Amino acid sequence: MIVCHCNVIVKAEIEDAVRRILAEDPAGRLEPQYVYRELQKRGRCCGCFPSVNRIVDELLAEAMKEVDGTTFGRVSMGGHLLPKD
Ligand code: FES
Repeated sequence: MIVCHCNVIVKAEIEDAVRRILAEDPAGRLEPQYVYRELQKRGRCCGCFPSVNRIVDELLAEAMKEVDGTTFGRVSMGGHLLPKD
């Protein structure tokens, strides 16, 4: 599924970029411009950015299911895993 028509970026590429960012730095920035930087692309019309945010949120929600029951329990506004309260 093409998410960004300007750069022809598909959902799987965005997910892979997010995984690479987090593998390099678990506190890495996940806003669309940083995801696109990882892909060596730039936003043009930026109309896809809400979709990129949604994909990142879905990915983090899935990650939270995997770590549920561990010491992490929340995701910050920046998309970072935070300890349970
Ligand atoms: S659709 Fe992604 S920058 Fe235009």
